[in-house]
Amino acid sequence: MAPQGRLLIRGGRVVNDDCSQVADVLVEDGVVRALGRDLLPPGDAPRGLRILDAAGKLVLPGGIDTHTHMQFPFMGTQSVDDFYRGTKAALAGGTTMILDFAIPQKGSSLLEAFETWRSWADPNVCCDYSLHVAVTWWSDKVKEEMKILAQDKGVNSFKMFMAYKGLYMVQDEQMYAAFCHCKEIGAIAQVHAENGDLIAEGAKKMLALGITGPEGHELCRPEAVEAEATLRAITIASAANCPLYVVHVMSKSAAKVVADARREGKVVYGEPIAAGLGTDGTHYWSEEWHHAAHHVMGPPLRPDPSTPGFLMNLLANGDLTTTGSDNCTFNTCQKALGKDDFTKIPNGVNGVEDRMSVIWEKGVHSGKMDENRFVAVTSTNAAKIFNLYPKKGRIAVGSDADIVIWDPEATRTISAKTHHQAVNFNIFEGMVCHGVPLVTISRGKVVYEAGAFSVAAGDGKFIPRKPFTEYIYKRITQRDQTCTPMPVRRALYKGDVFTLKSREAEEGDRAGTRMQGHSSSG
Ligand code: URP
Ligand code: ZN
Ligand code: ZN
Repeated sequence: MAPQGRLLIRGGRVVNDDCSQVADVLVEDGVVRALGRDLLPPGDAPRGLRILDAAGKLVLPGGIDTHTHMQFPFMGTQSVDDFYRGTKAALAGGTTMILDFAIPQKGSSLLEAFETWRSWADPNVCCDYSLHVAVTWWSDKVKEEMKILAQDKGVNSFKMFMAYKGLYMVQDEQMYAAFCHCKEIGAIAQVHAENGDLIAEGAKKMLALGITGPEGHELCRPEAVEAEATLRAITIASAANCPLYVVHVMSKSAAKVVADARREGKVVYGEPIAAGLGTDGTHYWSEEWHHAAHHVMGPPLRPDPSTPGFLMNLLANGDLTTTGSDNCTFNTCQKALGKDDFTKIPNGVNGVEDRMSVIWEKGVHSGKMDENRFVAVTSTNAAKIFNLYPKKGRIAVGSDADIVIWDPEATRTISAKTHHQAVNFNIFEGMVCHGVPLVTISRGKVVYEAGAFSVAAGDGKFIPRKPFTEYIYKRITQRDQTCTPMPVRRALYKGDVFTLKSREAEEGDRAGTRMQGHSSSG
């Protein structure tokens, strides 16, 4: 990014996850240099200092979207929001950092996948980004590459798929091995929690019943399929004493499993997404095929219309922790690959641009959470879990100046006609949201203001993340030290021990018994 001038954001209400205060924010060379009342004495502004009036507005840490799939090659096609369009749209919505996924094919190198994703993203991103890496198979090579990624490449999170049978799905024993290894290298394990075997069987059943439309997608993966896998992943992670992050928690039952586990003291975090918080799965029954197909994602949106409100309650009270979008967009013609068979509809929905507004509307405007919790769930908690804090996720002296000037009273109506994403459909179409980003600042540069961009491809940068995030690893390390089972010290047993016979001797005995039987009956 080009060298930046100085910025003074004046008179806004600066909101962090723990408190809010009316203050000026002075930004220089991409970082926050000062924070306080009346930083500039009355009079003319010094040359080179731009003043942004934020009186009556909120000044928030830029959003961190924990879950995107830009230009993802998937289900025979590629998601249409690439790293350029996707990150530009993110900025328009007040998100200043995304975490995308590098996903190798089974049998392929994780390191190569990581480098491939970097080669797509580096020249194109408009906001900062980082990469999670998926573990889609297991071997000594995978193990070694995970270590290199964690130690040298800035990756501290690895995702395992429990679904997409035959493509990305891993078995429980592989997951256990991967979780144990995540713990060794100081990473957090992530899971896409759905029972892939049951989905495969359910899909066959639906097709056999003649259900070929998008409703079949939901019908073959009901809530229990997600809840079962969520509990299984938590059980396996707990056995490995590995921290766990459940991506896209979509159902009430899966969210309850996460909440219960947290109450039992498990180190587990749940991530609902904008789609699941803002809309529901009744759309799969729409009579317009394209409308229904555009909602197809895995795990599916749930037909129970009280689900979004329930997930928001859990996000507000701390049972769920972060929010992503799982932005993975396909145009109608791509969705139409599955026009005669729902299993061929590329899975994915939008959300990277609208996540912040949807959560403000459904979470803050509704009265479920306050502005501080909003900052926690849209930015700070992600920064803490993924070891970006306090460089990201906070407005404080020394932090990156990733800042949004937010108008909590203004409204905007979401529409595919006006959004900045490449995709030709928006699952939030027509939703009126309070909470509008007026100005987005990325590492000290005003990149979006009054609807206009001032950003170029490649202005964002890759942000490496170190392993052993204290925020999660302090508990894990302590448990390793104090909760590892110990043998009971007791005197040696000195009594008789029953003699086990060898297999041959047992077979000999059995043959003898048979012979006796023959002679006595004869
Ligand atoms: O449907 C979805 N979620 N598409 C993206 C891939 C994934 O499972 O996250
Ligand atoms: Zn997934
Ligand atoms: Zn995803």
